[in-house]
Amino acid sequence: MIIIQNITMKLKKKNEKKVLITGSEGFIGSHLVDFLLKKKMNIRCFVQYNSFSNYGWLDNYTDKNNLDFHLGDIRDSNYVDKAVFGCSHVIHLASLIAIPHSYNSAQSYIDTNIKGTLNLLQSSVKYKIKKFIHTSTSEVYGTAQKIPIDEKHPLNAQSPYAASKIAADHLALSFFKSFNLPVGILRPFNTYGPRQSARAIIPTIITQLINKNKIQLGDINPLRDFNYVNDIVKAFYLAIDNKSITGEVVNLGSNYEISIKNLKNLIMKIYNKKIKIEINPKRLRPRKSEVMRLLCNNSKAKKLLNWKPEYSGKKGLERGLKETIEWFSDNNNLKKYKSNIYNT
Ligand SMILES: NC(=O)c1ccc[n+]([C@@H]2O[C@H](COP(=O)([O-])OP(=O)(O)OC[C@H]3O[C@@H](n4cnc5c(N)ncnc54)[C@H](O)[C@@H]3O)[C@@H](O)[C@H]2O)c1
Repeated sequence: MIIIQNITMKLKKKNEKKVLITGSEGFIGSHLVDFLLKKKMNIRCFVQYNSFSNYGWLDNYTDKNNLDFHLGDIRDSNYVDKAVFGCSHVIHLASLIAIPHSYNSAQSYIDTNIKGTLNLLQSSVKYKIKKFIHTSTSEVYGTAQKIPIDEKHPLNAQSPYAASKIAADHLALSFFKSFNLPVGILRPFNTYGPRQSARAIIPTIITQLINKNKIQLGDINPLRDFNYVNDIVKAFYLAIDNKSITGEVVNLGSNYEISIKNLKNLIMKIYNKKIKIEINPKRLRPRKSEVMRLLCNNSKAKKLLNWKPEYSGKKGLERGLKETIEWFSDNNNLKKYKSNIYNT
Protein backbone atom coordinates (compact mmCIF):
# COMPACT_ATOMS: atom_id res chain seq x y z
CA MET A 1 0.00 0.00 0.00
CA ILE A 2 2.80 2.41 1.02
CA ILE A 3 4.73 1.52 -2.16
CA ILE A 4 1.68 2.31 -4.34
CA GLN A 5 1.21 5.59 -2.49
CA ASN A 6 4.87 6.52 -3.09
CA ILE A 7 4.64 5.68 -6.80
CA THR A 8 1.44 7.74 -7.12
CA MET A 9 3.10 10.65 -5.34
CA LYS A 10 6.17 10.42 -7.60
CA LEU A 11 3.97 10.33 -10.73
CA LYS A 12 1.99 13.29 -9.42
CA LYS A 13 5.23 15.19 -8.79
CA LYS A 14 6.43 14.36 -12.29
CA ASN A 15 3.26 15.78 -13.85
CA GLU A 16 3.13 18.76 -11.53
CA LYS A 17 3.45 22.11 -13.17
CA LYS A 18 6.51 23.94 -11.93
CA VAL A 19 7.95 27.03 -13.58
CA LEU A 20 11.66 27.80 -13.36
CA ILE A 21 12.35 31.54 -13.61
CA THR A 22 15.91 32.63 -14.34
CA GLY A 23 16.76 36.24 -13.50
CA SER A 24 14.00 35.97 -10.90
CA GLU A 25 15.68 38.42 -8.52
CA GLY A 26 16.02 41.15 -11.16
CA PHE A 27 13.67 43.93 -12.20
CA ILE A 28 11.25 42.12 -14.54
CA GLY A 29 11.87 38.72 -12.88
CA SER A 30 10.84 39.86 -9.39
CA HIS A 31 7.62 41.41 -10.73
CA LEU A 32 6.92 38.14 -12.56
CA VAL A 33 7.47 36.21 -9.31
CA ASP A 34 4.95 38.49 -7.53
CA PHE A 35 2.46 38.00 -10.38
CA LEU A 36 2.78 34.20 -10.60
CA LEU A 37 2.56 33.81 -6.81
CA LYS A 38 -0.68 35.81 -6.86
CA LYS A 39 -1.90 33.30 -9.46
CA LYS A 40 -0.90 30.52 -7.00
CA MET A 41 1.60 29.05 -9.42
CA ASN A 42 4.31 26.65 -8.35
CA ILE A 43 7.62 28.34 -9.13
CA ARG A 44 11.36 27.86 -8.69
CA CYS A 45 13.52 30.97 -8.53
CA PHE A 46 16.98 30.85 -10.09
CA VAL A 47 19.02 33.53 -8.33
CA GLN A 48 22.60 34.38 -9.28
CA TYR A 49 24.91 33.15 -6.52
CA ASN A 50 26.85 35.73 -4.52
CA SER A 51 28.63 35.53 -1.18
CA PHE A 52 26.53 38.31 0.43
CA SER A 53 23.37 36.17 0.72
CA ASN A 54 21.76 38.77 -1.48
CA TYR A 55 18.56 37.63 -3.19
CA GLY A 56 18.15 40.89 -5.07
CA TRP A 57 14.52 42.07 -5.18
CA LEU A 58 13.43 38.71 -3.74
CA ASP A 59 15.14 39.42 -0.39
CA ASN A 60 11.70 39.99 1.16
CA TYR A 61 10.70 36.45 0.33
CA THR A 62 13.66 34.71 2.00
CA ASP A 63 12.27 34.80 5.55
CA LYS A 64 8.88 33.48 4.47
CA ASN A 65 10.48 30.21 3.50
CA ASN A 66 7.84 29.50 0.89
CA LEU A 67 9.90 29.82 -2.25
CA ASP A 68 12.05 27.21 -3.92
CA PHE A 69 15.33 29.10 -4.44
CA HIS A 70 18.22 27.83 -6.52
CA LEU A 71 21.39 29.90 -6.17
CA GLY A 72 23.85 29.47 -9.01
CA ASP A 73 25.06 30.76 -12.32
CA ILE A 74 23.56 30.11 -15.75
CA ARG A 75 27.09 29.82 -17.17
CA ASP A 76 27.52 26.60 -15.18
CA SER A 77 25.89 23.76 -17.15
CA ASN A 78 26.04 21.31 -14.25
CA TYR A 79 24.24 23.70 -11.94
CA VAL A 80 21.69 24.67 -14.59
CA ASP A 81 20.88 21.00 -15.07
CA LYS A 82 20.04 20.65 -11.37
CA ALA A 83 17.84 23.74 -11.49
CA VAL A 84 15.86 22.58 -14.54
CA PHE A 85 15.36 19.07 -13.15
CA GLY A 86 11.88 18.73 -11.63
CA CYS A 87 10.43 21.69 -13.55
CA SER A 88 7.85 21.52 -16.34
CA HIS A 89 8.27 25.06 -17.75
CA VAL A 90 11.17 27.51 -18.04
CA ILE A 91 10.98 31.29 -18.28
CA HIS A 92 14.45 32.52 -19.13
CA LEU A 93 15.05 36.15 -18.20
CA ALA A 94 18.61 36.03 -16.84
CA SER A 95 20.95 38.13 -18.90
CA LEU A 96 23.55 40.88 -18.77
CA ILE A 97 21.57 43.82 -20.10
CA ALA A 98 23.47 47.12 -19.80
CA ILE A 99 24.44 48.33 -23.27
CA PRO A 100 27.35 50.60 -22.23
CA HIS A 101 28.81 47.81 -20.09
CA SER A 102 28.70 45.51 -23.13
CA TYR A 103 31.22 47.80 -24.91
CA ASN A 104 33.77 47.01 -22.18
CA SER A 105 32.85 43.43 -21.31
CA ALA A 106 31.60 41.80 -24.49
CA GLN A 107 33.01 38.43 -23.51
CA SER A 108 30.89 38.20 -20.37
CA TYR A 109 27.84 38.98 -22.53
CA ILE A 110 28.71 36.08 -24.83
CA ASP A 111 29.24 33.76 -21.86
CA THR A 112 26.07 34.76 -20.03
CA ASN A 113 23.60 35.58 -22.78
CA ILE A 114 24.59 32.95 -25.33
CA LYS A 115 26.30 30.12 -23.46
CA GLY A 116 24.01 30.54 -20.46
CA THR A 117 21.00 30.24 -22.77
CA LEU A 118 22.56 27.17 -24.41
CA ASN A 119 22.88 25.48 -20.99
CA LEU A 120 19.21 26.10 -20.24
CA LEU A 121 18.10 24.88 -23.67
CA GLN A 122 20.13 21.68 -23.41
CA SER A 123 18.76 20.77 -19.99
CA SER A 124 15.26 21.67 -21.17
CA VAL A 125 15.51 19.17 -24.02
CA LYS A 126 16.87 16.55 -21.61
CA TYR A 127 13.98 16.99 -19.15
CA LYS A 128 11.29 17.42 -21.84
CA ILE A 129 10.27 20.90 -20.74
CA LYS A 130 6.72 21.70 -21.88
CA LYS A 131 7.35 25.35 -22.69
CA PHE A 132 10.58 27.36 -22.84
CA ILE A 133 9.93 31.08 -22.88
CA HIS A 134 13.01 32.95 -23.97
CA THR A 135 13.33 36.70 -23.42
CA SER A 136 14.59 38.80 -26.30
CA THR A 137 14.73 42.61 -26.59
CA SER A 138 13.68 45.30 -29.08
CA GLU A 139 17.38 46.30 -29.24
CA VAL A 140 17.84 43.42 -31.72
CA TYR A 141 16.09 45.51 -34.42
CA GLY A 142 18.48 48.47 -34.20
CA THR A 143 17.18 51.85 -35.42
CA ALA A 144 13.77 51.29 -37.04
CA GLN A 145 14.00 50.90 -40.81
CA LYS A 146 10.21 51.04 -41.02
CA ILE A 147 7.64 51.74 -38.34
CA PRO A 148 5.93 50.35 -36.43
CA ILE A 149 8.38 47.46 -36.05
CA ASP A 150 6.83 44.03 -36.58
CA GLU A 151 8.56 40.68 -36.05
CA LYS A 152 9.65 40.52 -39.73
CA HIS A 153 11.71 43.71 -39.38
CA PRO A 154 15.41 43.02 -40.15
CA LEU A 155 17.68 42.39 -37.18
CA ASN A 156 20.60 44.77 -36.83
CA ALA A 157 22.88 44.57 -33.78
CA GLN A 158 24.26 48.01 -32.95
CA SER A 159 25.89 46.88 -29.67
CA PRO A 160 27.56 43.72 -28.35
CA TYR A 161 24.50 43.35 -26.08
CA ALA A 162 22.13 43.30 -29.07
CA ALA A 163 24.43 40.88 -30.92
CA SER A 164 24.45 38.48 -27.96
CA LYS A 165 20.65 38.62 -27.73
CA ILE A 166 20.21 37.96 -31.47
CA ALA A 167 22.50 34.94 -31.15
CA ALA A 168 20.58 33.66 -28.12
CA ASP A 169 17.23 34.15 -29.90
CA HIS A 170 18.40 32.14 -32.91
CA LEU A 171 19.87 29.46 -30.69
CA ALA A 172 16.53 29.12 -28.92
CA LEU A 173 14.62 28.91 -32.23
CA SER A 174 17.11 26.35 -33.54
CA PHE A 175 16.31 24.14 -30.54
CA PHE A 176 12.66 24.24 -31.56
CA LYS A 177 13.54 23.28 -35.14
CA SER A 178 16.22 20.71 -34.28
CA PHE A 179 14.88 19.08 -31.11
CA ASN A 180 11.22 20.10 -31.08
CA LEU A 181 11.70 21.96 -27.79
CA PRO A 182 8.53 24.11 -27.43
CA VAL A 183 10.28 27.48 -27.48
CA GLY A 184 8.40 30.77 -27.59
CA ILE A 185 10.27 34.07 -27.76
CA LEU A 186 8.90 37.21 -26.14
CA ARG A 187 10.54 40.44 -27.28
CA PRO A 188 9.80 43.32 -24.90
CA PHE A 189 10.39 46.92 -25.94
CA ASN A 190 11.74 49.28 -23.25
CA THR A 191 10.24 48.27 -19.92
CA TYR A 192 10.06 50.49 -16.83
CA GLY A 193 8.61 50.57 -13.33
CA PRO A 194 9.55 50.17 -9.67
CA ARG A 195 12.84 48.32 -8.95
CA GLN A 196 14.45 48.98 -12.31
CA SER A 197 18.17 49.64 -12.05
CA ALA A 198 19.39 53.22 -12.37
CA ARG A 199 21.30 52.46 -15.58
CA ALA A 200 17.96 52.64 -17.41
CA ILE A 201 16.69 56.00 -18.59
CA ILE A 202 13.53 56.42 -16.47
CA PRO A 203 15.15 55.59 -13.08
CA THR A 204 18.15 57.74 -14.08
CA ILE A 205 15.94 60.76 -14.67
CA ILE A 206 13.79 60.19 -11.57
CA THR A 207 16.64 59.56 -9.10
CA GLN A 208 18.62 62.60 -10.32
CA LEU A 209 15.47 64.74 -10.26
CA ILE A 210 14.79 63.81 -6.65
CA ASN A 211 18.38 64.01 -5.39
CA LYS A 212 20.07 66.72 -7.41
CA ASN A 213 19.71 70.16 -8.95
CA LYS A 214 20.65 69.11 -12.47
CA ILE A 215 20.12 66.00 -14.57
CA GLN A 216 22.93 64.50 -16.63
CA LEU A 217 21.85 62.54 -19.69
CA GLY A 218 23.19 61.11 -22.94
CA ASP A 219 21.46 61.65 -26.30
CA ILE A 220 17.95 63.03 -25.75
CA ASN A 221 16.78 62.64 -29.37
CA PRO A 222 16.08 58.87 -29.59
CA LEU A 223 12.46 57.76 -29.60
CA ARG A 224 11.32 54.80 -27.52
CA ASP A 225 8.22 52.71 -26.87
CA PHE A 226 7.99 52.45 -23.05
CA ASN A 227 6.06 49.65 -21.31
CA TYR A 228 4.96 49.42 -17.71
CA VAL A 229 6.36 46.28 -16.09
CA ASN A 230 2.91 44.99 -15.00
CA ASP A 231 1.86 44.79 -18.66
CA ILE A 232 5.02 42.91 -19.60
CA VAL A 233 4.78 40.28 -16.84
CA LYS A 234 1.13 39.72 -17.73
CA ALA A 235 2.24 38.78 -21.26
CA PHE A 236 4.73 36.27 -19.81
CA TYR A 237 1.93 34.76 -17.74
CA LEU A 238 -0.31 34.47 -20.79
CA ALA A 239 2.50 32.76 -22.71
CA ILE A 240 3.09 29.93 -20.24
CA ASP A 241 0.48 27.54 -21.62
CA ASN A 242 -0.01 29.17 -24.99
CA LYS A 243 0.68 26.72 -27.81
CA SER A 244 0.26 29.24 -30.64
CA ILE A 245 3.52 31.04 -29.78
CA THR A 246 5.62 27.87 -30.06
CA GLY A 247 8.37 28.46 -32.63
CA GLU A 248 7.34 32.14 -32.81
CA VAL A 249 8.79 35.52 -31.87
CA VAL A 250 6.28 37.92 -30.34
CA ASN A 251 6.88 41.66 -29.84
CA LEU A 252 5.67 43.22 -26.59
CA GLY A 253 5.22 46.94 -26.88
CA SER A 254 2.62 49.64 -26.36
CA ASN A 255 2.73 51.15 -29.88
CA TYR A 256 3.26 54.66 -28.44
CA GLU A 257 6.55 56.50 -28.85
CA ILE A 258 8.15 59.43 -27.06
CA SER A 259 11.56 61.09 -27.36
CA ILE A 260 13.88 61.07 -24.33
CA LYS A 261 13.64 64.87 -24.34
CA ASN A 262 9.84 64.82 -24.03
CA LEU A 263 10.02 61.95 -21.54
CA LYS A 264 12.20 63.99 -19.15
CA ASN A 265 9.82 66.96 -19.58
CA LEU A 266 6.86 64.72 -18.73
CA ILE A 267 8.62 63.30 -15.64
CA MET A 268 9.51 66.82 -14.44
CA LYS A 269 5.89 67.89 -14.96
CA ILE A 270 4.53 64.93 -12.96
CA TYR A 271 7.09 65.40 -10.15
CA ASN A 272 6.49 69.16 -10.31
CA LYS A 273 10.17 70.14 -10.33
CA LYS A 274 12.05 71.74 -13.22
CA ILE A 275 15.84 71.52 -13.25
CA LYS A 276 18.70 71.99 -15.68
CA ILE A 277 19.64 69.26 -18.17
CA GLU A 278 23.27 68.63 -18.99
CA ILE A 279 24.47 66.35 -21.79
CA ASN A 280 27.31 64.27 -20.37
CA PRO A 281 29.59 62.93 -23.16
CA LYS A 282 30.31 59.87 -20.97
CA ARG A 283 26.65 58.90 -21.35
CA LEU A 284 26.62 59.15 -25.15
CA ARG A 285 26.79 55.89 -27.07
CA PRO A 286 29.20 55.74 -30.02
CA ARG A 287 27.32 57.40 -32.94
CA LYS A 288 26.67 54.25 -34.98
CA SER A 289 25.72 52.31 -31.87
CA GLU A 290 22.86 54.60 -30.79
CA VAL A 291 19.43 53.18 -31.67
CA MET A 292 17.45 56.24 -32.77
CA ARG A 293 13.93 54.88 -32.94
CA LEU A 294 11.96 51.90 -31.61
CA LEU A 295 8.19 51.71 -31.99
CA CYS A 296 6.37 48.41 -31.64
CA ASN A 297 3.78 46.80 -33.84
CA ASN A 298 2.03 44.66 -31.22
CA SER A 299 -0.63 43.03 -33.45
CA LYS A 300 0.90 39.56 -33.11
CA ALA A 301 0.85 39.70 -29.30
CA LYS A 302 -2.76 40.87 -29.39
CA LYS A 303 -3.69 38.02 -31.73
CA LEU A 304 -1.69 35.12 -30.28
CA LEU A 305 -1.58 36.00 -26.59
CA ASN A 306 -4.80 37.98 -26.40
CA TRP A 307 -2.60 40.59 -24.71
CA LYS A 308 -3.42 44.26 -24.51
CA PRO A 309 -1.25 46.72 -22.59
CA GLU A 310 -3.27 48.46 -19.89
CA TYR A 311 -0.80 51.34 -19.60
CA SER A 312 -1.03 52.36 -23.26
CA GLY A 313 -0.83 55.69 -25.06
CA LYS A 314 0.19 58.96 -23.45
CA LYS A 315 -2.32 58.52 -20.62
CA GLY A 316 -1.00 55.03 -19.85
CA LEU A 317 2.59 56.26 -19.84
CA GLU A 318 1.65 59.10 -17.46
CA ARG A 319 -0.09 56.64 -15.15
CA GLY A 320 2.89 54.25 -15.15
CA LEU A 321 5.33 57.11 -14.58
CA LYS A 322 3.25 58.38 -11.63
CA GLU A 323 3.35 54.93 -10.01
CA THR A 324 7.09 54.65 -10.69
CA ILE A 325 7.86 58.14 -9.30
CA GLU A 326 5.78 57.36 -6.22
CA TRP A 327 7.81 54.21 -5.61
CA PHE A 328 11.14 56.02 -6.05
CA SER A 329 9.96 58.84 -3.77
CA ASP A 330 9.79 56.43 -0.83
CA ASN A 331 13.14 56.80 0.91
CA ASN A 332 13.28 53.09 1.76
CA ASN A 333 13.44 52.42 -1.98
CA LEU A 334 15.45 55.45 -3.05
CA LYS A 335 18.28 54.74 -0.60
CA LYS A 336 19.10 51.58 -2.59
CA TYR A 337 20.11 53.78 -5.55
CA LYS A 338 23.37 55.75 -5.91
CA SER A 339 22.48 58.73 -8.07
CA ASN A 340 25.90 60.35 -7.47
CA ILE A 341 27.59 57.52 -9.41
CA TYR A 342 27.17 56.91 -13.13
CA ASN A 343 27.30 53.17 -13.20
CA THR A 344 26.51 51.28 -16.37
N1 LIG B 1 14.34 46.21 -18.83
C1 LIG B 1 14.11 46.36 -20.13
O1 LIG B 1 13.83 47.47 -20.60
C2 LIG B 1 14.15 45.17 -21.05
C3 LIG B 1 13.66 45.33 -22.36
C4 LIG B 1 13.72 44.25 -23.23
C5 LIG B 1 14.19 43.03 -22.79
N2 LIG B 1 14.66 42.89 -21.53
C6 LIG B 1 15.16 41.57 -21.15
O2 LIG B 1 14.48 41.18 -19.97
C7 LIG B 1 15.31 40.32 -19.18
C8 LIG B 1 15.35 40.82 -17.75
O3 LIG B 1 15.90 42.12 -17.74
P1 LIG B 1 15.74 43.12 -16.49
O4 LIG B 1 15.42 44.45 -17.06
O5 LIG B 1 14.87 42.53 -15.46
O6 LIG B 1 17.25 43.21 -16.00
P2 LIG B 1 17.93 42.84 -14.61
O7 LIG B 1 19.38 43.17 -14.77
O8 LIG B 1 17.18 43.46 -13.49
O9 LIG B 1 17.74 41.26 -14.55
C9 LIG B 1 18.66 40.37 -15.11
C10 LIG B 1 18.83 39.23 -14.15
O10 LIG B 1 19.74 38.27 -14.71
C11 LIG B 1 20.55 37.77 -13.64
N3 LIG B 1 21.81 37.25 -14.16
C12 LIG B 1 22.76 37.92 -14.86
N4 LIG B 1 23.80 37.11 -15.10
C13 LIG B 1 23.51 35.89 -14.55
C14 LIG B 1 24.20 34.66 -14.46
N5 LIG B 1 25.40 34.51 -15.00
N6 LIG B 1 23.59 33.64 -13.82
C15 LIG B 1 22.36 33.78 -13.26
N7 LIG B 1 21.66 34.94 -13.31
C16 LIG B 1 22.24 35.98 -13.95
C17 LIG B 1 20.78 38.99 -12.76
O11 LIG B 1 21.19 38.60 -11.46
C18 LIG B 1 19.43 39.67 -12.80
O12 LIG B 1 18.59 39.21 -11.78
C19 LIG B 1 16.66 40.28 -19.90
O13 LIG B 1 16.74 39.10 -20.66
C20 LIG B 1 16.63 41.51 -20.80
O14 LIG B 1 17.44 41.32 -21.95
C21 LIG B 1 14.65 43.93 -20.66
